[in-house]
Amino acid sequence: MTSKPFSISRRSFLKTGAATAAATGLPLWFLERELLGATSRPRPLGPNDRPGIALIGCGGQGRGDAKNATRFGEIVALCDVDEKHVNAAAEQFTKDGKVPAKYNDFRKVMERDDVQVIITGTPDHWHTLVNLAATQAGKDIYGEKPLTLTIDEGKHLVKAVRQHKNVFQTGTQQRSDARFRLACELVRNERIGKLKEVTVWLPAGLREGPFSAQPVPPELNWDFWLGQAPTVEYMPQRCHLYFRYWYDYSGGTMTDWGAHHNDIALWAIGLAGPVTVEGKALAQPIPGGYTAISEYDVKFTYANGVIHNVRTTKADSIFGTVEDPAGQRNGVRFEGTQGWIWVNRGNLRASDKGLIDTPLPEGAHRLYKSDDHMGNFFDCVRSRKLPVADVQAGHRSASISHLGAIALRTGLPLKWDPSAEKFVGEHAKEANAYVAREMRKPYDYSFV
Ligand SMILES: NC(=O)c1ccc[n+]([C@@H]2O[C@H](COP(=O)([O-])OP(=O)(O)OC[C@H]3O[C@@H](n4cnc5c(N)ncnc54)[C@H](O)[C@@H]3O)[C@@H](O)[C@H]2O)c1
Repeated sequence: MTSKPFSISRRSFLKTGAATAAATGLPLWFLERELLGATSRPRPLGPNDRPGIALIGCGGQGRGDAKNATRFGEIVALCDVDEKHVNAAAEQFTKDGKVPAKYNDFRKVMERDDVQVIITGTPDHWHTLVNLAATQAGKDIYGEKPLTLTIDEGKHLVKAVRQHKNVFQTGTQQRSDARFRLACELVRNERIGKLKEVTVWLPAGLREGPFSAQPVPPELNWDFWLGQAPTVEYMPQRCHLYFRYWYDYSGGTMTDWGAHHNDIALWAIGLAGPVTVEGKALAQPIPGGYTAISEYDVKFTYANGVIHNVRTTKADSIFGTVEDPAGQRNGVRFEGTQGWIWVNRGNLRASDKGLIDTPLPEGAHRLYKSDDHMGNFFDCVRSRKLPVADVQAGHRSASISHLGAIALRTGLPLKWDPSAEKFVGEHAKEANAYVAREMRKPYDYSFV
């Protein structure tokens, strides 16, 4: 589910500027500006300038991230609680006959001095403890989205990252995609007038079940996989890939895809978070099946009056692929007093082409420019600057998605205080009960 970073060279711009503009949906003025201001390309590294990297969680995304990171460093260690996954990764990342070291307990990886960078590719319910262990060990971290399982975990993590001065990039790679950045810059500079409403469309989740228990595969440490979540019998639908449709381990598409598109909504809105949230489940989970609500309509409001809706579409699959070409695509629509802008992976449109094609003036508000999410992270590992999706941004975009899930789970209209990061007013008690969760021992904060 990664989007290809956009980049262009001067020569290709001169030759194919108009065609590139047509193909990318990005206007010529923007492409030219990108070219003139191009400074964010990661510099090439020498053989002695390649940090040691460890991957924790060797599933689909972790291995994709690690492969991407081999442009900048060496994979020296791998860790997974599933032996098959760690073995497959070891095969993939063997280089010049050198096999990366294999682990089943991530805490041991943190003891290695030759590991400077940790990539966290575990399911969501493990992100925080792995990232905290890495933070305390002085590693820099590329941590997959959504940053955490709960809002409270995010508060712990942001504090620790600041205290230990780690570089932390959240895996919300849409921040390094020029289309999303331009859409947010246009909105911030009031190209569509005063922003009134943002509507985020996410793929509907899976509504399936009931599932039955099965023997634990011999290669899997199920108790370690479950970690802080309650002990339950093994079923494949709770484990690899499908964990995201259970509230015990994740938050459904609201936090899975929501971590990306709500992040873009927040980037454009420019505020820490909403002040109210309410949500409606449009389908109920099947008893004994996935617990996360699969179809929903959630509405946030912000202190400045902006409305932010999050809705599901069945026309796109959970992998982002098109199911019904005539249906609603996943993406983000910004509606202002003078027009609208639509953006998703591969498409940028507006109510009037001129809204995009007219250059932003000198002195317009500009956003952090990165065209290579992994490259930006490694640049910052060297410069010690904040990456484009620093831990605080990751925390905010995870928080808004968690707020949406809490509104769906309580079914109540809720008031949120974005500075205190807690629910206030009527129903605060019921809702605040979801801000943190009890962590099953020994997998609580004392584990790392
Ligand atoms: N940025 C993106 O576009 C993007 C795309 C897909 C997934 N993701 C995120 O990446 C993460 C992983 O998703 P996935 O689809 O690769 O899942 P997956 O189930 O394929 O992989 C997760 C791996 O983590 C391992 N694991 C579980 N607990 C562990 C522990 N305590 N220590 C070490 N390993 C452990 C599992 O055994 C599994 O191999 C999720 O948080 C997901 O949201 C991000």
